[in-house]
Amino acid sequence: MGWTTVSGKSVPPIGQGTWKMGASADARQDELSALKKGFDLGLVLVDTAEMYADGGSERLVGEAVSGQRDHVFITTKVWPQNASRAGTIAHLEASLKRLGTDYVDLYLLHWPSKTHPLEESMAGLTDALERGLARYIGVSNFPADLLEEAERLTDHRIFANQVSYSLMAREPEVALIPYAKTHRVTLMAYSPLSGVVDPALDGSRQDALCNVASRHDVSTTAVALAWVLRSESGPMVTIPKASRVEHVTHNAQALRVRLTDDDVELLDRAFPSAGRDIALERL
Ligand SMILES: NC(=O)c1ccc[n+]([C@@H]2O[C@H](COP(=O)([O-])OP(=O)(O)OC[C@H]3O[C@@H](n4cnc5c(N)ncnc54)[C@H](OP(=O)(O)O)[C@@H]3O)[C@@H](O)[C@H]2O)c1
Repeated sequence: MGWTTVSGKSVPPIGQGTWKMGASADARQDELSALKKGFDLGLVLVDTAEMYADGGSERLVGEAVSGQRDHVFITTKVWPQNASRAGTIAHLEASLKRLGTDYVDLYLLHWPSKTHPLEESMAGLTDALERGLARYIGVSNFPADLLEEAERLTDHRIFANQVSYSLMAREPEVALIPYAKTHRVTLMAYSPLSGVVDPALDGSRQDALCNVASRHDVSTTAVALAWVLRSESGPMVTIPKASRVEHVTHNAQALRVRLTDDDVELLDRAFPSAGRDIALERL
C-alpha cells in the first residue's frame, strides 16, 4: 500500500476499527488498552467516524493516540447528510477537535449521499486536502462506477474506498477489486470478521478455518484477515475492530501469515462467492 505516518513509519495492511467503541464509560479502559496494544504491535492505522458513538469513538481515539499522534495513521469519515462542500470542512473541524489533532491522515465520505450531489462532497474533500486538514482523501461504500465518477470530480488522487469485504461478503470481487487494481485505489475491507466470529458459524466452514489456522499455528481470525489480504485482492488494507487486548493480539498474527494456494482453495470452497456485485446505497 505504501502509506506512512507523518513520522515516516510505514503503515501495515492491518489496522484497527472502532465502530461501537467510545460509547460506554465502563468499556473505556479495555478499549483504550486494546487500541494501545494494537499500536504497540504495529497496527498503527486506526479507523473512526464522526457518526460512531456520536463522536465518542473519535474522542476515544484522540485519547489513545495522545503522546504518539504522528506515529499513528488516523482515518475518519464525514456522514453523507453533512457532506455539502462547506459541511465537509465544518464537520472535519469538529472531528479534529474531538480527536485532539490538527490533521487526519485520511478523510472519507462515509456513504454515497442522497442529500448532497457528489461534486459538492468531492469539492469539500478536495478543500480538506488543499487546506492541509487531511493528508489523503477517499470514499466509502462506493461501487466501481461511482468510484470512477468520484475520481473524475477531483484533481487529486482518491487513495481509498472503504467497503465490506470478508469470506462471508465477497461482493467487491465482481467489479470493484478489478477496478481498484487498475486504478491503484486501495480498498479498506471493513467487517472482515463478519460471520467468522459468530458461534453459529456452519461446522464445515469452522473446520476449514481451523484447518488452515493449525497449518500456520495462528487464530482463525488471523486466517480470515490473511484471506482478505491475499495477493488476488490487489491493494488492500483491513480494519478489524477488537475491544479486547487478547483479540487484537490474535488479529495481529495475520501480519505474518502468507496463505498457500491450497489454503485459499480450501477456504474458497467453504465460503463460495455469491457472485453479486456491491449494491449502491445512498444515505
Ligand atoms: N465504512 C463503513 O460504512 C463501515 C461499516 C462497518 C464497519 N466499518 C469499520 O470497520 C471496522 C470493522 O468492522 P466491524 O466492527 O463491523 O466488524 P469486524 O471487525 O469484522 O468484527 C468485530 C467483532 O469481532 C470481534 N473480534 C475481533 N477480533 C476478534 C478475535 N480475535 N476473536 C474473537 N472475536 C474478535 C469483536 O469483538 P470485541 O470488540 O469484543 O473484541 C467484534 O465483536 C469497524 O469497527 C469500523 O471502523 C466501516
